[in-house]
Amino acid sequence: MTTVKTSEENVIMMGGGKASPDVFPGAELTAAATYIFQEKIAEALQYGPRPGYDPLRQRLVDEWNRQDGLDLKAEDTRIVTGAKQGLDMVVRALCSPGGCVIVCEPTYGTGMEIFRANGAQLIGVPNDEYGVDPDGIERALRAVSPRPKFIFCMNDLNNPTGSICSEERREKLVGIAERYGVPIVQDMTYRWLQFEGRPARPLQQFDRRGNVITVGTFSKILGPGMRVGWVHARKDILDRMAPFKSDGGTSPINQMLVYELFKNDGSLELFLEVRRRTYRRKRDVMLEALAEEFKGTGAQWNKPKGGYYVWLYLPGVDTDGLVDGTHALKGTGQAGGPQVIVIPGSHFYAGEPQRGFIRLAYSFEAEQRIRTGIRAVASALLPALRRASK
Ligand SMILES: Cc1ncc(COP(=O)(O)O)c(C=O)c1O
Repeated sequence: MTTVKTSEENVIMMGGGKASPDVFPGAELTAAATYIFQEKIAEALQYGPRPGYDPLRQRLVDEWNRQDGLDLKAEDTRIVTGAKQGLDMVVRALCSPGGCVIVCEPTYGTGMEIFRANGAQLIGVPNDEYGVDPDGIERALRAVSPRPKFIFCMNDLNNPTGSICSEERREKLVGIAERYGVPIVQDMTYRWLQFEGRPARPLQQFDRRGNVITVGTFSKILGPGMRVGWVHARKDILDRMAPFKSDGGTSPINQMLVYELFKNDGSLELFLEVRRRTYRRKRDVMLEALAEEFKGTGAQWNKPKGGYYVWLYLPGVDTDGLVDGTHALKGTGQAGGPQVIVIPGSHFYAGEPQRGFIRLAYSFEAEQRIRTGIRAVASALLPALRRASK
């Protein structure tokens, strides 16, 4: 088959979790940058304190405490250079020079790459639509020796499935982890982007022993180029992580910009409302397009209550075989049509994947391009689906 060269215009990005440029706050950041460079340049361009910019750490815990009735402390929060750095530091601190990690799968593929790159062996325990499976996790904890070093999960809008873990399961998970003395690493990257229903109670509400480590980021609400995230954990765990923060501290200027955007009471909530509305609309456009193109074909998909992704299921289809090395969907990008980038489901499993899944991101593209993209996805996938159902 010949490969058709496509211009960027003609490539529709439904692969990685890129933020929507429509809601990048250009004017607000320009004003904040002007203020910082006029009034605080000495601090902004200097090395900053390793744990992070104090006003931002305090702002974060004030928000969590207000939103969720928690009693968290700024001193137990570290600013990191994106959640990825947080995950890297956690695995290095808890899993060096090796050991097992339980991952509730399907889960964040790059997170698993970070764990593996640091020598961790991964044990997958399946999630379902109600979130993590505490009984399955307990079975894994009992079966694996030496004991796993931590449990990795995403209880709010799991990437890729969008599942939200029930509060019953959250409570049970915390109890089990405490009994076995194994920390939980909870990735809260999408929690602030739930646009239907109230967010469930966070794990910390059930955690009496400080066994929960939380990792989060401003990437998905503000922009991943900012590279500002956080880790919240018990002091002795933070102390073990500290040597692995090897970047001289997260950029002070970026932390100060984030702080300036959200320093006033109510500013974060207002900001989130706009982002939730934007991503909800994009989700609706993708769901409508899927309903039009895949109706009656046997394909299935979820209706996420937030986040960035739809998890499409094509029964009997080996989705790994449907993409090339750049994750371009084969059969798209021909005869002048758009090429569509997607992620095959196997990327989200620690071991043997469940076959037939594809993750589609609605976060980045404009509404019309989401429609065009789904039409191209359907043309490329429907023949494989028909073959599989024969
Ligand atoms: C679940 C999850 N965690 C972490 C990240 C990475 O966040 P950051 O840009 O802050 O490194 C992502 C980005 O896609 C994600 O989906």
